[in-house]
Amino acid sequence: MRIPFIAGNWKMFKTVQDAVLFTKELRSIVKDVTNVEIVVAPPFTAIHAVAEAARNTNIGVSAQDLYWEREGAFTGEISAGMIKEAGASYTIIGHSERRRLFGETDAMVNRKTSAAFQNGLTPIVCVGETLEERETDQTLAVLDRQLKDGLDGLTAEQVAELVVAYEPVWAIGTGRNATPEQAQEVHALIRARIGVRDARIAAATRILYGGSVKASNAAELFAMPDVDGGLIGGASLKAEEFVAILAAARPH
Ligand code: PGA
Repeated sequence: MRIPFIAGNWKMFKTVQDAVLFTKELRSIVKDVTNVEIVVAPPFTAIHAVAEAARNTNIGVSAQDLYWEREGAFTGEISAGMIKEAGASYTIIGHSERRRLFGETDAMVNRKTSAAFQNGLTPIVCVGETLEERETDQTLAVLDRQLKDGLDGLTAEQVAELVVAYEPVWAIGTGRNATPEQAQEVHALIRARIGVRDARIAAATRILYGGSVKASNAAELFAMPDVDGGLIGGASLKAEEFVAILAAARPH
């Protein structure tokens, strides 16, 4: 059975102070929750403070990105080792905003994913098609390429450990979520794609849905057999809404 996984992607929101207040509020509300892996992804500046506030709790901390080199003259970049040292255990990789606004490619996603594993971070690898790609029937080809190139060279154990987030670009921040059936269709395909290498591994990999998840649509999305939780943007910024989404999580 897969333990559901719910991650809040805070994007470029929350000061250190806001992030710590949120974490303290969340930790008291979720202290008795045992059947869901709960993760928050603050901006880099707040990772350390949030990790301190979440220490010895059931809340995990994630970065939103990383750079694959260990150290060096890479102005503005943050390495996986630095993120780990700051107190995070996870990192989002290949979010569509990184791909679209900052030119990230599948090859870069691949290097980042390897660097995350080398430094003991669990990657949350994002994939998903644009509206144009969906409307021109390229969804499967795009996902195939993102998975093949993005996860190239990983061991079976690494694929079982990583988390995949399916985030159709047209559903992110638009208020227009994929229907549960649309999400399930793609999630099943992602699992099948991973299963080409090893069916046992594919059965263990958590596949999250992301894109306009909110308290009002979370339950129907998470009820789908291959939807193992969510990567939540806007709705993760308010503790009450995030907690309502956590309550909708279900194991499959
Ligand atoms: P959203 O964002 O929930 O605000 O649509 C999801 C994401 O970008 O991870």
